[in-house]
Amino acid sequence: RIRRMSATIESEADFARMKGDRGKYDDVLGLMEKMKETKLRDEEAKQYRHVPSFLSPRFWGREDALNAIEQVLAPTKASTRLKSFALYGMGGVGKTQIALQYAQRHRGLYKVILWVAADNVINMGQTFRDIAKLLRLSQTEQGLQDTNGCMLKVKGFLTDTSDPWLLIFDNADNLEVLRHAWPTNGEGSILLTTRDPSAVHSPASHGFQVVPFDDTEGSEVLLHLVGLDSSASPNREKAIAITKALGGLPLALTQISGFIVQRKMPLEGFLPLYKRNASKIDARKTGISDYEHTLSTVWDMSLR
Ligand SMILES: Nc1ncnc2c1ncn2[C@@H]1O[C@H](COP(=O)(O)OP(=O)(O)OP(=O)(O)O)[C@@H](O)[C@H]1O
Ligand SMILES: [Mg+2]
Repeated sequence: RIRRMSATIESEADFARMKGDRGKYDDVLGLMEKMKETKLRDEEAKQYRHVPSFLSPRFWGREDALNAIEQVLAPTKASTRLKSFALYGMGGVGKTQIALQYAQRHRGLYKVILWVAADNVINMGQTFRDIAKLLRLSQTEQGLQDTNGCMLKVKGFLTDTSDPWLLIFDNADNLEVLRHAWPTNGEGSILLTTRDPSAVHSPASHGFQVVPFDDTEGSEVLLHLVGLDSSASPNREKAIAITKALGGLPLALTQISGFIVQRKMPLEGFLPLYKRNASKIDARKTGISDYEHTLSTVWDMSLR
């Protein structure tokens, strides 16, 4: 009887041990399952971003341009075509900043965002090599040095992937530079910034002209940049006068506000100084555009 009882106790003990082991086994299984889920979620959330330029922390306005881009370039389930949009306009008007703002604001829409410096062939080649490295499209150092190979690999990647992507060609003033780099296939969006208005028809299929700020916007930007209250009407009047003199050009407004802040200059002190310098420069230079004239005056004064 004792033997029988001890056999029962032993088998109870075995059973209890097995239950304990089973519990641990289930715990481990659960943990592994959880790890797999997190890994999948991470993979899904993984984004590729190559955006080496900087958005101004004081970016202002431009909702019209941003909306126009969004209308054409936001990924939609219905369309599987390649979409393209050109922002064009004079130098310093803010095209690059708008493209950066679009990429930043809509980063959640795209799995892949690639920014290409397209001002010349050399910079563009370097960018494609950097992107090929980021996307791990070439395993060898030699492969990563081959500019043409990298460009083809990146284009191939964009053709094959089913993830929504945004490719930005920035400062493509010479459209010839884009000839080999422009993707011909794939389900994605291309944003181009250029000074050349013809880009709207080719290579892009839509576009928007970026123009300087009007007096109201320009004066608000200026007051914002120098840290003055834009609801005070004396400030507004002075800022409007300066904006008019600078033609509302964002680059000029930024430069001037830096100049004013740096010298701790009251707003009313600026225009007389600017006019004196502008007339001196006028006397020295002829046959230049208003834009160059305005900026050379700005820089001439900033350098002193
Ligand atoms: N919306 C904005 N708000 C505030 N500052 C701006 C804005 N847009 C442009 N700027 C200022 O003007 C400068 C010039 O803008 P940006 O580089 O975007 O001009 P661009 O049109 O791309 O010129 P380019 O044709 O020479 O490339 C920026 O560095 C920034 O300081
Ligand atoms: Mg630019």
